[in-house]
Amino acid sequence: MIENFEKRILCIGAGYVGGPTMAVIAQKCPQYKVTVVDINPDRIARWNSEKLPIYEPGLDDVVREARGRNLFFSTDIEEGIRESDIIFVSVNTPTKTFGAGAGMAADLQYWEKTARQIRECSGSPKIIVEKSTLPVKTAQAMKRILLASDKKNHFEVLSNPEFLAEGTAVQDLEKPDRVLIGSDETVSGLKARNDLVEVYANWVDRDRILTTNIWSSELSKLVSNAFLAQKISSINAISALCEKTDADVSEVARAVGMDDRLGPRFLNASVGFGGSCFKKDILNLVYLCRYYGLFEVADYWESVVRINDYQKNRFVFNMLACMFNTLATKKICLFGFAFKADTGDTRESPAIFISRKLVEEKAELIITDPEALENAKTDLQDIEGAVRYELDPYAAAEGSDAIAIMTEWKLYSDLDYERIYQSMVKPAFIFDGRNILDHRRLFDIGFNVYPIGKPPLTHFDDQPEICQE
Ligand SMILES: NC(=O)c1ccc[n+]([C@@H]2O[C@H](COP(=O)([O-])OP(=O)(O)OC[C@H]3O[C@@H](n4cnc5c(N)ncnc54)[C@H](O)[C@@H]3O)[C@@H](O)[C@H]2O)c1
Repeated sequence: MIENFEKRILCIGAGYVGGPTMAVIAQKCPQYKVTVVDINPDRIARWNSEKLPIYEPGLDDVVREARGRNLFFSTDIEEGIRESDIIFVSVNTPTKTFGAGAGMAADLQYWEKTARQIRECSGSPKIIVEKSTLPVKTAQAMKRILLASDKKNHFEVLSNPEFLAEGTAVQDLEKPDRVLIGSDETVSGLKARNDLVEVYANWVDRDRILTTNIWSSELSKLVSNAFLAQKISSINAISALCEKTDADVSEVARAVGMDDRLGPRFLNASVGFGGSCFKKDILNLVYLCRYYGLFEVADYWESVVRINDYQKNRFVFNMLACMFNTLATKKICLFGFAFKADTGDTRESPAIFISRKLVEEKAELIITDPEALENAKTDLQDIEGAVRYELDPYAAAEGSDAIAIMTEWKLYSDLDYERIYQSMVKPAFIFDGRNILDHRRLFDIGFNVYPIGKPPLTHFDDQPEICQE
């Protein structure tokens, strides 16, 4: 078959970012050939199947439209590198678990292997695009690796961090708030930057395509995630104060969020934030600040993560105190395990921490989630004995002492709680870790209801004094 594509785009890393991002580029730009490669053959097989490896609303349709036309998933990384003009690198950059910077710095081993492989397999000039979230100044290291070769290929490195949010990835990619592209401000850097602008300009308004120097672009992604997480930790910190003062955190958030300078989004108090990025990216920022001797700045950002840990701990202590200081042999049903609604992703989900703590208290867990049970089983495989997994929320809640809402799936607001109440052990408890339920109605049904940052609604005469570690 003679291929007649205007450009050949490759993405290394077929994960939550690489897959959806490339699927949307392929859908919007049928004139380009887009190939996504990965070292994980199972993942690639699933991208080529009817059941994609990740759940994202709308993604199936996008992939179905472009796959086989100009979108391809493959394990042949070397061939992909050889034939492409633009290479996006979207491999994982988790927190380092060993050596210097363990628990803080980004683990760049996957990223570095990719850089070396690109250098070895390239037979022509390439534009390399950092799509992964990386510490500021990584592009410099990438260039050094790419240029340390006898071959005379020219590589231009761009930073183009991804701002999609899981659960709304397709929508975010189709109508992004902004696309950020950073480059060296040299003649060749500006030309490469312009080539990438032209790719996005196929469907994104030009005034939403922001160009900067490469270091600003790398840093902006870390800062963006740090600001978002900080907003969540701020309202979560206030939820603890609300619980002490009979204020209602939703009312406070509404009053605060109507200020245009602050805005209403990311002001929902909850059991805590999760996801693969917030904690990792903040810790990475903290590490960078310490590296540059900015200790006060580092401490400031680290406190965002500390408040998140505090919030998760508080949730479990609250459950324990409210259920008469013992959870042993009690059945607790977790509604949701994904770190947020509309995704099956469970990385850093608060539900993992809460599950482990509850099992330490010798509670029996029943976990339900419409999309995340497969991942939940992997996350909790070492404590399998005390945990049961159940797709149907009614079956999950049957015979349990308490329900804890972990994920804000809409389906949990729409359930028949009268029926659920009838099937549970009494007194029946609901701990709404996302404040998504109709608390007054649940109370009227007979539940003892414990929201986040609001006075509880219980059928007991007095409230327990909650002691916290
Ligand atoms: N998940 C998000 O919501 C999100 C949003 C914006 C940015 N990011 C950033 O994007 C990057 C990727 O995140 P993700 O969630 O897609 O991760 P992921 O773990 O889902 O995907 C990464 C993929 O890269 C593959 N990979 C690793 N090394 C490889 C190599 N040498 N060659 C080929 N493939 C390789 C892995 O097998 C995996 O499938 C991270 O830096 C992350 O911080 C993530």
